[in-house]
Amino acid sequence: MAFAGRHVVLGVSGGIACYKSCTLARRLSEGGAVVDVVLTAAAAEFVRPLTFEALTGRPVLTSLWERDRALAHVGLAHAPDLVIVAPATANLLARAAMGLADDVLTALLLARTGEGEGKGGRAVLAAPAMNDAMYAHPATRANIQTLATRGWQFVGPEIGPLAEGPSERPGRMSEPETILAAAERLLLQRPPWQGKIVVVTAGPTREHLDPVRVVTNPSSARMGYALAEAAYARGADVVLISGPSDLPLPFGVTAHRVETTAEMQRAAQAVVKRAALLVMAAAPADYRPAKPAATKRPRTGDAALTIELEATPDILASLERPKECVVVGFALETGGDGLARAQAKLREKALDYIILNDALEPGAGFEVTTNRVTIIGKERQPVELPLLPKRDVAERILDAVEQSLT
Ligand SMILES: Cc1cc2nc3c(=O)[nH]c(=O)nc-3n(C[C@H](O)[C@H](O)[C@H](O)COP(=O)(O)O)c2cc1C
Repeated sequence: MAFAGRHVVLGVSGGIACYKSCTLARRLSEGGAVVDVVLTAAAAEFVRPLTFEALTGRPVLTSLWERDRALAHVGLAHAPDLVIVAPATANLLARAAMGLADDVLTALLLARTGEGEGKGGRAVLAAPAMNDAMYAHPATRANIQTLATRGWQFVGPEIGPLAEGPSERPGRMSEPETILAAAERLLLQRPPWQGKIVVVTAGPTREHLDPVRVVTNPSSARMGYALAEAAYARGADVVLISGPSDLPLPFGVTAHRVETTAEMQRAAQAVVKRAALLVMAAAPADYRPAKPAATKRPRTGDAALTIELEATPDILASLERPKECVVVGFALETGGDGLARAQAKLREKALDYIILNDALEPGAGFEVTTNRVTIIGKERQPVELPLLPKRDVAERILDAVEQSLT
């Protein structure tokens, strides 16, 4: 969504991580961006320009001296919404920090940041990738520092296996999805989200019957993670309180992993005092075994087993939240008069918005990647959304909430 109709330059310098830049180019194009790829001579040794041309459907710049494209680098310096350099080699960072313009990519970078350094709107996002010793070198550190003070933004490098071997060391280029999340934020961040703390709860909770058995539900945490990603992209400082989930944590958020409803309640209470927005997208267990066993309960023949359950803490009811904090709850219903029940919950729990979804509707609710929700605001007409990917649902929810944030 962030990339639709945007113009992005993808600068690629010569590191082994060039192969990941092909995926990055592809994802940007799929997202609706016009992508112009600019390669250094070393990058063209790793991946031929033809690959990027096929992926983007656009000609690729590799030299300052191309016929009919003289000064293309100057045009590409000013026009795009965003310049991404991935991978950014040690050599490229050194040349850019020194202000060299000895090939088409460095000339473009110099022209882009020559005026309005450090200001928004001329953003350069770099994803360094190199051997760990090169990354640790004081020269590289100083170059990154210099570029950062000129307004360059950095994503990574991360700790992981490098090209030379399997041991985990710093210097690995961030994955394309991570670079895209950082790029999205540069394009989308805006008031009233910037600098606001947004707390999102996500996923199921688990209540133990014994050390190896739990009472839980099939929530995948996808809706909450999508909301966390969308709020981060808008510029918020996002705290994600997540129950058990196999999903990778969204880039840029501060995550607290919890298991039980009581833990989720405590984690939410610890952060909510500073929150401008609280989104309760989790599906916490409402009941837990009253007497969890310390060791595994043995099977006792074919006799039925009755387990006493007790209520878990009601997170929304028990949270001490600041008066100005906007609160969004979720109501997961299974048919019937869901709208009336959701509206009653909105009032009883003093929420600002409630998001109604039906667990039994195909494509909605738990486990799936899509959802169909109705956004119900205090003193507002309910807004029914069509079936959408959860990230799009998240955007629509945040669009609705935005007017309540001051
Ligand atoms: C196989 C191979 C892998 C390389 N990988 C990297 C790398 O990951 N990061 C880096 O900074 N340099 C790497 N280099 C060195 C750069 O290619 C070299 O410094 C080159 O001059 C970079 O040019 P450029 O910055 O203009 O693209 C690698 C070289 C080779 C031969």
